[in-house]
Amino acid sequence: MISSRERLIVALDVSSSAEAQQIVTCLGESIQIYKVGMQLYTAEGPQIVRDLVAAGRRVFLDLKYHDIPNTVAAAVREAAQLGVSMLTVHASGGTKMLRAATEAARVDISGRGESSQTLTAGVTRELRLKVLAVTVLTSMDESDVNEIGVETALRDQVVRLASLAIKAGCDGVVSSAQEARSLRDQLGPEFLIVTPGVRPPGSTHGDQARVVTPAEAIRAGATHIVVGRPITAATDPPVAADQILQEIEATALAR
Ligand code: C5P
Repeated sequence: MISSRERLIVALDVSSSAEAQQIVTCLGESIQIYKVGMQLYTAEGPQIVRDLVAAGRRVFLDLKYHDIPNTVAAAVREAAQLGVSMLTVHASGGTKMLRAATEAARVDISGRGESSQTLTAGVTRELRLKVLAVTVLTSMDESDVNEIGVETALRDQVVRLASLAIKAGCDGVVSSAQEARSLRDQLGPEFLIVTPGVRPPGSTHGDQARVVTPAEAIRAGATHIVVGRPITAATDPPVAADQILQEIEATALAR
């Protein structure tokens, strides 16, 4: 079973390495995985990833690659070299692009033929980079999807793209909790679902429109949840993180 520390991903949505390091230091050992997105990566480049990896943290690089297969494969190899643990690609890039990405991620960069490495007691780092597919951006509604020429209902398009991604070898998808339930029902239990838009009970929603609690996300089938501001902007970030970890643990055990 995945431990709660391996299920919670904290989003480093800041624009400098100094701010990111402050969050990581403040959260200490309780948080193992950090999401580096376009904002921080564009501001600070690959060094932020190297620094996090050197500090023993795992990095979810959320740059949503979408290009020709050769280019995406090359970028995935670079991410693997940096020590990234998870990254995102757009499923709408199609089977050839997705296959190129997953094959590039399978290359053993450790040179030791190992698939995992024990870091500290109970925490294992899988050396192979996980490729996650983004289906339809949750900012898009039915009319946005129709506008770009997709005639299918939005929900069906999400399942269609997720299915394509899994068949092409992706390890999982990024999806809202609302979508997670139907993806699990239709595509089975064997892939990762990473769910953002999570808010602990009683916290403010910020700009997230449809939010779920950590427990609801796990019950809907998420293997990982992404949380940003409810932890990073909390008065006491370690306490906020700890409460979410406890909620994940209790829900996962009850399942
Ligand atoms: O601060 P908050 O918890 O809202 O941060 C959520 C993170 O997940 C942000 O980095 C945001 O870009 C990302 N995300 C999201 N909704 C999606 C996909 C990604 O909130 N559908």
